[in-house]
Amino acid sequence: MLLNKLPQHINIWNVCMQAALIATLTITGSKSQTATGDYLVGRKQTSYNPSELSESQFLEYSNLSDKQHLREAIRNILIPRVVGTGNHSIVRQYIVQSLRDLDWKVELNSFHDTAPIVGALHFHNIIATLNPKAESYLVLACHYDSKYMPDVEFLGATDSAVPCAMLLNLAHVLEKHLGSLKTAKRSLMLLFFDGEEAFDEWGPKDSIYGARHLAQRWEKEGKLDSIDMLVLLDLLGAPDPAFYSFFANTESWYMRLLALESRLSQRGLLEQYTSSGVAPRDPTRYFQAQAMRSSYIEDDHIPFLKRNVPILHLIPVPFPTVWHTPDDNESVIDYSTTDNLALIIRLFTLEYLLEKS
Ligand SMILES: *[C@@H]1O[C@H](CO)[C@@H](O)[C@H](O)[C@H]1NC(C)=O
Ligand SMILES: *[C@@H]1O[C@H](CO)[C@@H](O)[C@H](O)[C@H]1NC(C)=O
Ligand SMILES: *[C@@H]1O[C@H](CO)[C@@H](O)[C@H](O)[C@H]1NC(C)=O
Ligand SMILES: [Zn+2]
Repeated sequence: MLLNKLPQHINIWNVCMQAALIATLTITGSKSQTATGDYLVGRKQTSYNPSELSESQFLEYSNLSDKQHLREAIRNILIPRVVGTGNHSIVRQYIVQSLRDLDWKVELNSFHDTAPIVGALHFHNIIATLNPKAESYLVLACHYDSKYMPDVEFLGATDSAVPCAMLLNLAHVLEKHLGSLKTAKRSLMLLFFDGEEAFDEWGPKDSIYGARHLAQRWEKEGKLDSIDMLVLLDLLGAPDPAFYSFFANTESWYMRLLALESRLSQRGLLEQYTSSGVAPRDPTRYFQAQAMRSSYIEDDHIPFLKRNVPILHLIPVPFPTVWHTPDDNESVIDYSTTDNLALIIRLFTLEYLLEKS
């Protein structure tokens, strides 16, 4: 992804502060208040407002985890996996097989495109659903390709081995709890984009190959309306991430994430939940109570955003310092942060989808 229009050395925080792009969100004291109101879901202004997890659901679901599996999934994805290489096929097959083993319906959206430097390439987005016939989906997404870097080994731990491993881990940990989604009208989709990275220089024709192709194709097929919301995970795994609400029409959902983080933290259910506190932000939480209304960050969500799909972008600002350097390897991964974020995202998914109505 790209921090657009900004010289790299400028801290986005300062730029945004100067441009007054950051607005403090109003957080009400009571959890129920943060969850009320009509939400914009899809292009129809339908209101979907599932209740928060009850105390017993919250405690039961918070207990679910498999940290060993998450580490194993990261290890399996954490090899150089540039589009068109043998390692890229290995990672793709690993993702596909892991989900098929959990009884997900997995299909590949394959297509040809041409990239600078490397030429013609065969790309494959991976689309996994629990119910292929559902009317609408909560979509959780990441990109599984790694950046092409001549002469150095680039592993892309945060970019985006960890986010993709989190999605596989979610499917594994929640296997028994998501069973009802195999027949539900509102179900879950996991999307692994191919070709997010630029080969030469980031630009409209050299970047987000998979997302551009898929958004266009689903628009033609009239399928975009079935996306309730696209939640894009990127650059996760490094310590002390700070997230912001980027889009007004999904702010209520962003607030759900923030509320879940608070709820876990109040109960002491997050590990090593301390921060170096060096960043100019609230160091006691990941999900900042602030909106950043910017179009600075280009990523796989853009072709969908342009077609009015509601987006939640879970990407830390500023980016991890190792971004697009050979240091983005396993040594940067903070497993406490990674486990904590994986837990918050699992609870969000359950809260969103397991409404009994
Ligand atoms: C969660 O796990 C803890 C520790 O294993 C256990 O004491 C507790 O009873 C569990 N809670 C629920 C609701 O399953
Ligand atoms: C493929 O992955 C292996 C690790 O499984 C690594 O040793 C090897 O260098 C990679 N090959 C390429 C071409 O990156
Ligand atoms: C990972 O990056 C760190 C920090 O740059 C470096 O010291 C280490 O050698 C790298 N590890 C591997 C396995 O490449
Ligand atoms: Zn990248």
